[in-house]
This record gives sequence, C-alpha cells and structure tokens, in this order.
Amino acid sequence: MRGWMIFKRMEDPEPYEIRRFREVAEERGIELRIISPEQFDLIVTRDDRKSILIDGAYEPLPQFLLPRMGAGTTYFALAVIRHLERLGVHTFNSSQSIEVVKDKLYTQQILAESDLPVPKTMLVKYPVNVELVDRQVGFPVVVKTISGSHGNGVFLCEKKANFKDLMELISATKPNVNIILQEFIARSCGRDIRVFVIGGRVVACMERMARDESFKANFSRGGEVRAYEINPEIEWLATESAEILNLDIAGIDLLFDGDHFKICEVNSSPEFQGIESCCGVSIPDEIYNFIKVRLGIF
Ligand SMILES: Nc1ncnc2c1ncn2[C@@H]1O[C@H](COP(=O)(O)OP(=O)(O)O)[C@@H](O)[C@H]1O
Ligand SMILES: [Mg+2]
Repeated sequence: MRGWMIFKRMEDPEPYEIRRFREVAEERGIELRIISPEQFDLIVTRDDRKSILIDGAYEPLPQFLLPRMGAGTTYFALAVIRHLERLGVHTFNSSQSIEVVKDKLYTQQILAESDLPVPKTMLVKYPVNVELVDRQVGFPVVVKTISGSHGNGVFLCEKKANFKDLMELISATKPNVNIILQEFIARSCGRDIRVFVIGGRVVACMERMARDESFKANFSRGGEVRAYEINPEIEWLATESAEILNLDIAGIDLLFDGDHFKICEVNSSPEFQGIESCCGVSIPDEIYNFIKVRLGIF
C-alpha cells in the first residue's frame, strides 16, 4: 500500500500521531509519505490525471490520502485534497466532510437537523443583544470561535455583566468576527467523553477529566483519561454523527447531561495519544485495516 499524509510543515519534536502512523506503516510494509500542503503545486487541466507536482517534480499518485490537519485545514490544503480526490485518490476523510466539521456551527446545524441532541447554540450578531442571549441561551454561556481545537477558542462566561464586557472586547479586537454562544452543560463541567469512530465502528471510548479548575476536559490541556464503557446510546450517537457528517475517521466529544449525552463537537483528524494510553488500542492499525478493506486489498 502506498499513501500520503497531508500535514502542516513538520514541527519539532514530531507529533505523537505522526510518529505512530510512521512506525506502524513501517512495521506493516506500508509506504507512507508525509507531505505539507505547500509542497504541492496545483495545475488543473484535462490532460494529466496520473500525477501531481511535489517540490516541483511530477510524482505518481498514491493509493490513499490521509489529511491530518483537522480544524487547521487552510483553503490551500483543502484545494490540494480536492484536487487529489478529483484525480481518483481515495481520501480519508473527504474534503467535503473536513470542511463541514471545521465549522462548529454548521456541524451543529446538521446534527440538529437529524434530531440528534446538541447544546442550544447561537451565532453572534453585532451589535450583540445581551437580553436576547440571556433569554435564549442564558448564563453561564460558553463562547466559542467557529473553528478551533485543543480548547483554545473556548471560554466560559459566568455572568451577563462579564459577557457584555467580553463582547465589547471581541468587537474592538476583531469587528464582526464569527463567534458562537452555547448553552453550558453544567453537569459535564470539566468532564466529557471522547469516542473514536473508524469506518462506522466505535474503536475506543474514554472519559476525560480536567485536572485543573477549568471546565475544559481536553487531553492536550492535561486532562486525565480513562477507558469508558460504551453503551448503546454512546455508540449510536457517535456512529450516527460520523455517518451524517460523512466522516470515515472521527473523534466525537460528548457532554454528560444527567443520564444522557449531548454532542459537543466533532473532529476530523482526532489526536489519539490519550485514547491509546488508556484503551489498549492501536489507532494507526485500525485506520490502516479500514483503508485496506476500502481499497479492496487483502
Ligand atoms: N457547552 C458546553 N458545556 C460544557 N462544557 C463544554 C461545552 N462546550 C465545550 N465544553 C468543554 O470544553 C472542551 C472544549 O470544547 P470543544 O468545543 O470540544 O473545543 P475544541 O475543539 O477546542 O476541543 C470540551 O471538551 C468540554 O470539556
Ligand atoms: Mg473538542
């Protein structure tokens, strides 16, 4: 098997996920090359459908493509993925699904359309009508950037007065920036569930708990993790979300809401150091197994 992974210019040290994908590919005799979007040149013509320019030279197409930039997928990266899809390369996940889940509001709109449980979410309109926000969503409220990861663009605003100040600060810093406001699911404060779905199957499920005072449970912020027993509701919410959003590989965040759950957000290239550390699963193996089946290689 020959595949390419699209990833931003290599950081130092190499991220855990990239190292694991490399190691497992080597063990299994899979030829994996990691390429950053800016190494490509895109030339659209009717003629050459078998190769693409990388670092200025023509390269034969791979059998599969694994885009791994998630919410950080730029327009250029998306154009590269679309180009390779049009040339017939099997892509996991597709450009369309990556683009959708990059947008947290659009994701919630699609999930809500299918009647899946989501926290009430509102798009900010300027000038912000604080009374309307109070009536519709209430306080505390979770303020989020439309796109983001690692909990970076997520803020809990406790009271109406702080909220007013925050909105003034935001519009003074970047006028008309797209922000969403979300119902705070208090029962999930500092705690959530991450479900890893590959090819329509749940391959691992863990609980994450913030170690500090934060309401954010992300592993990358130091959250503690432990395997969480899957039940039919978790399985259904995760697999349905992945299917509706057209994701072959997905990391679904679920918030605890009493005995049930709400879908917090969906990731198209979920990290997996945390889940591998507590669930005894090899995510690259699961992904390569799935790709093999999808490519009809046995
Ligand atoms: N509406 C909410 N209610 C309670 N906690 C939330 C809510 N939204 C997010 N969180 C917490 O914040 C974390 C980060 O939010 P999330 O939307 O997943 O952003 P990111 O894409 O940066 O991971 C979640 O994992 C969860 O612990
Ligand atoms: Mg998240």
